[in-house]
Amino acid sequence: MLEVRNLRVNYGAIAAIRGIDLDINAGEIVALLGANGAGKSTIARAIAGLLPFQGDIKYDGRALRPNKAELNVRSGLALVPEGRGILAQMTVDENLLMGIYCRSDKAEALEDIARMRERFPILAKRRNNLASLLSGGEQQMLAIARALLSRPQLLLLDEPSLGLAPKMTDYLFGMIAKFRDEGLTVLLVEQKARQTLKIADRAYLLETGRVVASGPAQKLINDSTVSDAFLGGHAAH
Ligand SMILES: Nc1ncnc2c1ncn2[C@@H]1O[C@H](COP(=O)(O)OP(=O)(O)OP(=O)(O)O)[C@@H](O)[C@H]1O
Ligand SMILES: [Mg+2]
Repeated sequence: MLEVRNLRVNYGAIAAIRGIDLDINAGEIVALLGANGAGKSTIARAIAGLLPFQGDIKYDGRALRPNKAELNVRSGLALVPEGRGILAQMTVDENLLMGIYCRSDKAEALEDIARMRERFPILAKRRNNLASLLSGGEQQMLAIARALLSRPQLLLLDEPSLGLAPKMTDYLFGMIAKFRDEGLTVLLVEQKARQTLKIADRAYLLETGRVVASGPAQKLINDSTVSDAFLGGHAAH
């Protein structure tokens, strides 16, 4: 579904992504793991069409051009950005409406919003509240619901668990695993490596703009070099 070849992204003189290859097959949860500054968000943003890049990104066999975010959304790619990107001074309902701006089938899109309120009851309960008044977990639900409203085939989630309590993180990861069961394909960017590998099919481990390991999630979990570097050793949780 997605084929990334020799991707390079520079911020001025800084080479943030130094030639990476990455594949995502339809129906997979693929994890992109790495420490602060490894380049995870840069990759997610390049795929979403929010950055200039060099190299090739093919989505459903078609080459994606840099900086074409809206076009990418229309062709089924949706990004939930790091920090959620919700509009804090707008209500929950207004944020959901932002999710259908690119839909031409407005009547059906409004029905999708109603379905999102059923799927995430908190969004119905708090519909007229400012988004800034939601908890971190509720804001993440709102950001995900908004992304789902573009009816994506590939959902890019950039550190969805950031700042969430462990219980909320468990709930969220359970939800992401269910997305795959519904046929959605997911790129899950995370720092919580061990937990992410439990729900992912495959993973890429990133260090300063390069892929240093990749493979089936189960294999990486049991690989001692990987586990020492990324999971804090076998004993850690
Ligand atoms: N707008 C920018 N201008 C210049 N450098 C940037 C910019 N955004 C990111 N960088 C640099 O690019 C590198 C990769 O950053 P990126 O945000 O992709 O990492 P990350 O893996 O998402 O980190 P985190 O886990 O902290 O979100 C870092 O060295 C960072 O300092
Ligand atoms: Mg990031």
